[in-house]
Amino acid sequence: MARAMKFLVVVISTFWVLSMQHSSVHGKPEVPCFFIFGDSLADSGNNNVLNTTAKVNYQPYGIDFPYGPTGRFCNGRTTVDIITDLLGFENYIPPFAYANGSAILDGVNYASGGAGIRRETGITAGTVLSMGKQLKNHRTTIRRIINILGKKSLARTHLNKCLYSVGMGSNDYINNYFLPQYYNTSQEYTVQEYAVVLIQQYSQQLLRLYEYGAKKVVLGGLGQIGCTPAAISAYGTNGSCAEELNYAAQLFNQQLISLIDQLNSNLTDAKFIYVNNYEIASINVTAFGFTVSDVGCCTINDGGLCYPDQTPCQNRTDYVFWDGFHPTEAYNVITANRTYSAYDPADTYPMDVSHLVELEFNPLVAEM
Ligand SMILES: *[C@@H]1O[C@H](CO)[C@@H](O)[C@H](O)[C@H]1NC(C)=O
Ligand SMILES: *[C@@H]1O[C@H](CO)[C@@H](O)[C@H](O)[C@H]1NC(C)=O
Ligand SMILES: *[C@@H]1O[C@H](CO)[C@@H](O)[C@H](O)[C@H]1NC(C)=O
Ligand SMILES: *[C@@H]1O[C@H](CO)[C@@H](O)[C@H](O)[C@H]1NC(C)=O
Ligand SMILES: *[C@@H]1O[C@H](CO)[C@@H](O)[C@H](O)[C@H]1NC(C)=O
Ligand SMILES: *[C@@H]1O[C@H](CO)[C@@H](O)[C@H](O)[C@H]1NC(C)=O
Ligand SMILES: *[C@@H]1O[C@H](CO)[C@@H](O)[C@H](O)[C@H]1NC(C)=O
Ligand SMILES: *[C@@H]1O[C@H](CO)[C@@H](O)[C@H](O)[C@H]1NC(C)=O
Repeated sequence: MARAMKFLVVVISTFWVLSMQHSSVHGKPEVPCFFIFGDSLADSGNNNVLNTTAKVNYQPYGIDFPYGPTGRFCNGRTTVDIITDLLGFENYIPPFAYANGSAILDGVNYASGGAGIRRETGITAGTVLSMGKQLKNHRTTIRRIINILGKKSLARTHLNKCLYSVGMGSNDYINNYFLPQYYNTSQEYTVQEYAVVLIQQYSQQLLRLYEYGAKKVVLGGLGQIGCTPAAISAYGTNGSCAEELNYAAQLFNQQLISLIDQLNSNLTDAKFIYVNNYEIASINVTAFGFTVSDVGCCTINDGGLCYPDQTPCQNRTDYVFWDGFHPTEAYNVITANRTYSAYDPADTYPMDVSHLVELEFNPLVAEM
């Protein structure tokens, strides 16, 4: 019980990532807009305004970020921030909680630490924004975009051109299935059944996103959720990864890949891609200059998050993990790079982000 309590927190750490690469430093980004759905790996401040323990708008978070502690669960840029840079955006995508005015035409970040596909996931931390709630917020954004552009058809055309990133599922395990003292999903489902149930719900959510105009969608697979410092200390044996969690992540990923195949064959005017974060996380980190991968850089609390106002490690580029769950910016750069421009054919499927953004779909007659 005490061990599992450590998990009470938020997040996940899937090493997931997103894309990245050459950006047109000057000039237009490769897509006009970028919408982001996800959990703590992508949250850029949405949880700051919620009544939840899953928030990190305090030091030392953001110590390497130009705007300091913003609510990002990282020392610096998250993977989606790095992808945003690689795509050539001048500014980071604003969180829904603070986005206003015409800035929303560039995109909105809806991600919420602790959240998942299922509505109850993460609620032991307080209020978090599930995928369903994030889609409701996107609907609100769409109404605002229609107001700004003046016509539904113009809004539709704009939304069709955007890139969408969705990274969900880690918390449905870490902050749900593997916390049996708070959630009963592990009594209701075997781990195989649970993956199927999660993907069925995710499928409905992704179809809604498509109905809202998304045509270029990046889906992050789960990383090695059993290999975070928090997972190892709560569930691991002899300091090694918690294989039960990693196995669950692989089951989810198998289901997700077959969902992506179905979506791509059913919806021929859209493309969904898979990011193989599990595979990307299996790199030999030593070869990339990391010397510490079993503990985070900051001093962590029972929830796996940094204690406020403590001095973190000095050489943050030596560390894979920033806190108990989340990678450092240095690690995020690797995953973002491989998402944007696949280094190994197994990194992304069926294409990487740099190719996804180049696709052109025949504009169908605009109808809303
Ligand atoms: C990431 O990609 C950029 C641009 O392609 C490159 O300059 C950089 O060295 C890459 N970094 C890593 C850690 O792979
Ligand atoms: C915040 O959540 C806590 C725990 O659920 C609750 O006791 C408290 O009343 C809530 N505060 C507000 C302002 O809603
Ligand atoms: C939008 O938000 C920014 C930052 O929160 C603020 O500086 C700006 O005044 C706001 N603009 C409007 C039109 O409300
Ligand atoms: C699990 O909990 C939900 C609501 O909290 C309840 O409806 C359901 O019957 C429970 N299932 C089991 C097997 O206990
Ligand atoms: C853990 O380590 C101890 C001592 O080295 C060893 O006896 C035990 O078999 C190990 N357990 C597992 C599951 O590897
Ligand atoms: C794809 O189409 C098949 C055949 O109509 C249908 O059975 C399946 O549910 C669809 N899948 C998705 C994800 O829309
Ligand atoms: C990882 O890379 C380091 C440095 O390049 C090397 O010494 C080590 O043998 C590698 N480990 C594995 C398991 O390949
Ligand atoms: C940097 O990290 C290494 C371990 O990789 C450690 O031995 C060294 O003391 C650290 N240096 C500082 C200044 O923290």
